Amino acid sequence: MYKLKNDRYLRALLRKSVDMTPIWIMRQAGRYLPEYKLIRAKFDNFLSVCKNIDAACEIALQPLRRYDLDAAIIFSDILVIPDAMGLGLYFDDKYGPGFLYPITCQADIERLPICDPEKELSYVMNIIRMTYKNLQGKVPLIGFSGSPWTLATYMVQDSTNKFFNKIKKMMYSDPIILHKMLNKITDNIILYLNAQICAGIQCIMLFDTWGGILTHPAYKEFSLYYLQKIVANLLRTYQGFYIPIILFTKGGNQWLEDMANIGVDALSIDWNINIGDARRRVGDKVAIQGNMDPSVLYSSPDRITQEVKMILDNFGEGNGHIFNLGHGIYRDILPENVSVFINAVHNLSKR
Ligand code: CP3
Repeated sequence: MYKLKNDRYLRALLRKSVDMTPIWIMRQAGRYLPEYKLIRAKFDNFLSVCKNIDAACEIALQPLRRYDLDAAIIFSDILVIPDAMGLGLYFDDKYGPGFLYPITCQADIERLPICDPEKELSYVMNIIRMTYKNLQGKVPLIGFSGSPWTLATYMVQDSTNKFFNKIKKMMYSDPIILHKMLNKITDNIILYLNAQICAGIQCIMLFDTWGGILTHPAYKEFSLYYLQKIVANLLRTYQGFYIPIILFTKGGNQWLEDMANIGVDALSIDWNINIGDARRRVGDKVAIQGNMDPSVLYSSPDRITQEVKMILDNFGEGNGHIFNLGHGIYRDILPENVSVFINAVHNLSKR
């Protein structure tokens, strides 16, 4: 194990004191960076990048060379689990991700395998081992998975459809079958994340990108229940180190109290809520990560700085804040504006 040179991020996740508010950015390694585009251009498709150990490791480190970030995230995608389960993942430049063999009937669900992460997903574990080694303890390395609900939406739905009619039809007409699928996905995620912990990540983020399309009771039954099951089955310490867990449900602000109750250490919130209100609602149960609107990064340095200050002021004094965007950074953001953003967070939050 490397001793971390910068543990601001892990300290903030546990609501301990920090010298300044830590920051990282969802999708910090990606298409807004010219150096990412150079590597990406050498591959026919995005999935081949995710499966190439040298490329994925290099891409994860790129934003850390440019910026003073307080965490790194492994370079991969949430959809590699369904790919390992045999669905045939592809990325269409225009329409986004899709599957050659989506789930269409009960038999497809019965057939879904439980994967061995060191076999079907060994490339991810090798990427983690290499990224961890190359980071040399500079900052913590975040591992991640999609939530069972979010993975299920992609597994039954073609990506061009934004109304989620297929998964919702299944939820209201065949809930038992959907539960069967969610259970299988959950079992795969638990094995996958525990393998990530053993391979070298220091904390975990659960991306529930589509939890917010549900009603409150459906969220509890079809998303949160399985997230809680995952949390209960993860290694919470590894080689003497506590592994914190962050939960992000996009559009989940109306039920933050429920999310804070499943044993996670932090909630990542989108921009539709005042971070001070979120903090008051969850009390001292969890830390909060967020929550600048990614579109602010289109504006001027002054406007970006003003927005950072407002969020820091809204959070108020005390510990337990990790600065981030409310969702992933957009592909057409200027890299210079990202510098302004990160420096503003550090400078304005110095204790
Ligand atoms: O820097 C990081 O944050 C790590 C890498 C990362 C990617 N995807 C790389 C990526 C992470 C954490 C993800 C998670 C992910 N993937 C989520 C959850 C987070 C969220 O944004 O809500 C979801 C829903 C996906 C699924 C996904 N992957 C979609 C819908 C798309 C296509 C849309 C798009 O943004 O292009 C992807 C592709 C993808 N994942 C890219 C990257 C860098 C772009 C692919 C390319 O370069 O061609």
